[in-house]
Amino acid sequence: LTLKKEILSYVIRQGRFSDAQKKAITELWDIYGLKTNKKIKIKNIFQNKNPLWVEIGFGNGENLFFMAKNNPDINFIGFEVYLPGVGVLLQQLKKQPLQNIKIIKENAAQVLKDNFKDNSVDKLLLLFPDPWHKKRHRKRRFVNKHNINTIANKLKPVAHWHIATDWQDYNEHCLQLLKTDIRWQQINSSCKIHDKPSYRLETKFEKRGKRLGHKIFNLTFELKNLI
Ligand SMILES: C[S@@+](CC[C@H](N)C(=O)[O-])C[C@H]1O[C@@H](n2cnc3c(N)ncnc32)[C@H](O)[C@@H]1O
Repeated sequence: LTLKKEILSYVIRQGRFSDAQKKAITELWDIYGLKTNKKIKIKNIFQNKNPLWVEIGFGNGENLFFMAKNNPDINFIGFEVYLPGVGVLLQQLKKQPLQNIKIIKENAAQVLKDNFKDNSVDKLLLLFPDPWHKKRHRKRRFVNKHNINTIANKLKPVAHWHIATDWQDYNEHCLQLLKTDIRWQQINSSCKIHDKPSYRLETKFEKRGKRLGHKIFNLTFELKNLI
């Protein structure tokens, strides 16, 4: 009997992990970090009933911080497995504390599925996911049937899922999967390709894509008419 190895959408990059980033994590984790050993109770965590936006793979967190700062009446949860990135965001929060932001430093696919209540997320952002552009790596893409189904369950009716990528092939991959997935058809998703929405920042990987001459694709899927 062989155990099937889980396919992950990331490999932990070996980037520079500074002492200041490590210190920020040690000092601030109790305030901003979320444990995932049980169901996540959004209302208890934030002590309010505000809408919830989730960003998956926030990198250095510059966009998550920007959105949280500009929207004090919205709650934010960010996922990132790359610890130096978590450190950068916590350094920023050390300078400018915010009440409406929490961080999970584990696999978003797993934690969303196991620890988030269905029907709990108002907006989901997936900005410049690792493209896994080689054919043999495609199975690692975060946007896959399994995660699409999870996200359909976790989003509230009339919620939005935003995906941005600088890889045309990833854009088409998303369109194809979301347009044919039965779960999204049932709940009647509509899709738009558009310019960068103004509520978010241009991210690090977006800038990098532009420097390389890549086109940027912004997709929005709307979940509606949940019966
Ligand atoms: C290409 S980077 C983009 C970072 C940032 N969004 C930006 O646009 O600059 C993708 C990030 O997603 C993170 N990531 C990939 N899969 C993830 C998962 N399943 N859970 C949490 N983070 C993930 C990676 O660690 C990486 O930092």
